[in-house]
Amino acid sequence: MKTLIAGNWKMNGTRAFTHDLCNALTNHVKTPNADVEMLICPSAILIRDARDSIKDSPIKLGAQDCSNAESGAYTGEVSAGMLKDMGCDYVILGHSERRSYHSEANALICEKSTQAKDKGLIPIICVGETLKKRIAGKEFDVIKEQLIHSVPKSIDDFVIAYEPVWAIGTGKVAEISDIHAMHEFIYTILSEEHGRAVADKTRILYGGSMKPSNAKDILAVPRVHGGLIGGAALKAETFNGVYDIACGV
Ligand code: PGA
Repeated sequence: MKTLIAGNWKMNGTRAFTHDLCNALTNHVKTPNADVEMLICPSAILIRDARDSIKDSPIKLGAQDCSNAESGAYTGEVSAGMLKDMGCDYVILGHSERRSYHSEANALICEKSTQAKDKGLIPIICVGETLKKRIAGKEFDVIKEQLIHSVPKSIDDFVIAYEPVWAIGTGKVAEISDIHAMHEFIYTILSEEHGRAVADKTRILYGGSMKPSNAKDILAVPRVHGGLIGGAALKAETFNGVYDIACGV
């Protein structure tokens, strides 16, 4: 399975920023790599500029969220169909920032994932425990609950991103042994819920303060199939750097 190096731009950038960053990425990733895929997920309003800037390159395009509804009177929402129409292949769903700032519950994320799948997008479904839950020794319970209730039973083409909430944007990275244990656990739950065949082909990304200085160690962990990268995805040097490490350059 292809390692996925995914950039989550969050609410950052302008059209000029998008153009400059995409140019620096396309100058670096000129030909497809058989084992590694680069993905950028800009803010919805910048997707069109990003699409135009990365056309003719192997870099993939994704969004950071979509509606659980197909279309209609949902002011401010963006549908999965619109994202597909705009050239997206992926959509990040259930990011911890949406779970906490927008009170997104597992059931909603599950509906959004179904919408994404129905429109031909691959959902990147995020799971992660808070520091409080980890200190209380409840991290596996939280992840199991999120996996069971956020991932629709009916889909077989999706990506999981394990992002411990306390490691996002903080510079703190989970211990390698903890990442390993959690990714094994996620694989086990996916096998139980979706069967071995699906678990075996599902990529499990790590996210949380990933950057060139730690990417080699993290990407070497068994059952880590890439990264969901925030801060380091906003600079060509660091995002290309993580991509190169994934390629073994
Ligand atoms: P970070 O963000 O790399 O800045 O920690 C990761 C994410 O939130 O997806």
